[in-house]
Amino acid sequence: MRNFKNKLILGAQWGDEGKGKIVDLLSENFDVVVRFQGGNNAGHTLVIGNRTLKLHLIPSGILHSKVWNVIGNGVVLSPLALYEEIQGLEREGLDVLSRLKISDCATLLLPIHVALDQAREAKRGEHKIGTTGRGIGPAYEDKIARRAIRALDLKNPSVFKAKLSELMDYHNFVLKHYFAQTEISVEEQFESVMRAAEKFKANIGDTVAFLHQAQSAGKAILFEGAQGALLDIDHGTYPYVTSSNTTAGGASTGSGMGPLFLDDIVGVSKAYTTRVGAGPFPTELLDKTGESIREKGHEYGTTTGRARRCGWLDLVALKRSIQVSSLQSLVITKLDVLDGFSEVKLCIAYELDGKRIEDVPSDLAEFSRCQAIYETYPGWDKTAGLCEFEQLPESAKRYLQAIELITGVEIQMVSTGPERNQNIWCQGKDSNLHRVSPAST
Ligand code: GDP
Ligand code: IMO
Ligand code: MG
Repeated sequence: MRNFKNKLILGAQWGDEGKGKIVDLLSENFDVVVRFQGGNNAGHTLVIGNRTLKLHLIPSGILHSKVWNVIGNGVVLSPLALYEEIQGLEREGLDVLSRLKISDCATLLLPIHVALDQAREAKRGEHKIGTTGRGIGPAYEDKIARRAIRALDLKNPSVFKAKLSELMDYHNFVLKHYFAQTEISVEEQFESVMRAAEKFKANIGDTVAFLHQAQSAGKAILFEGAQGALLDIDHGTYPYVTSSNTTAGGASTGSGMGPLFLDDIVGVSKAYTTRVGAGPFPTELLDKTGESIREKGHEYGTTTGRARRCGWLDLVALKRSIQVSSLQSLVITKLDVLDGFSEVKLCIAYELDGKRIEDVPSDLAEFSRCQAIYETYPGWDKTAGLCEFEQLPESAKRYLQAIELITGVEIQMVSTGPERNQNIWCQGKDSNLHRVSPAST
């Protein structure tokens, strides 16, 4: 990878692109890894030898003993989920608390938010968003409505209790009278949250100051995105999105590190597309090919276990992600999952009501009517686990080259398996991809 100091790793699709694997892999070259948005809706799977770790709130740098891990101010923090996650990692023999900093300004995600999220989804019925049911939307709503309780309030139980009582007056009214659900007790929430917070209270502090000190001391910071650009609250397929800015700007607002500190911005995309939850997906494959990708790619959610919807790579949508996050390069993951198909497809445009378009329509009704226009490429086999570009079948090289040519963005790395060492590095402007022999193109 190019030798920039700080780096931002973002999902360039609808999440689950393999960000966790890439962040874990790169972490050894960084001093600090920061999560800046989302919450425990995220599910980042790390596979190291025969060990598999699933992370939700803890940054994916945690396996590296010299790396500090920061949960930034833009994250919605569930004290109960964080407690569980730290306990789980400690059972795995990891020392989490000696290398974890939690922003005092992070918004708290409380049991009431989970109840509201689930009640709302149930009420929406067939029109539900298909959220992870973790309370993400309601927690961000409280933040934007300026009534949220923040991590710093955990340090002062009487202040926390007073704020919780006031917040619950409002939410219990909605829960009871709008959703016809049982109210949630202030006392029970207070007790359970305080108990959980005991575990990590000492780690809560001013992470903005911490990050700027690290920056001044010449340390390298890796920013770890959760979800993906198409789930962004502003730029995604609204309302079938999450409730945070998953695109590059979110890294600054969610960490307190201004945009000029983001030296390098890398988008992670699968060699195909997946989506969990509802919403339009023009390249979705509802046939045997889609099923085959799901089975070969183990496309079941890390957080909820739901089957992921699968389809071909959508370059129209990827180009939009590149624009909104100013992605400077791409990492393509799960190339190996496409092994064995006689042909593979890239969506290069949409047909909307008889017209060819090359942008993602803002109107969801229009986006839902878009038909993918494909270019078809010959398939390949046996890329699983490859580490050398030269070992790739010519047709796989051509496919990757087409992605570079159509998006105009360089592929820096290709991932060929879930393990840390299953990667092909494609260096710099003289990227190996640009060296595919003319005869094969
Ligand atoms: P994230 O949310 O972006 O971190 O991605 P997830 O962890 O939810 O989903 C990605 C899944 O694909 C995980 O189970 C990874 O172990 C796995 N994975 C990542 N890269 C590759 C790859 O190149 N090939 C294969 N076969 N699996 C991969
Ligand atoms: P990672 O970080 C994939 C999806 C949900 C739903 C929508 C809103 O592992 O890539 P929410 O619970 O956030 O209100 O749900 O967003 N979603 C994800 N999909 N990967 C994720 O995270 C996701 N986090 C949320 O399925 O469609
Ligand atoms: Mg995931």
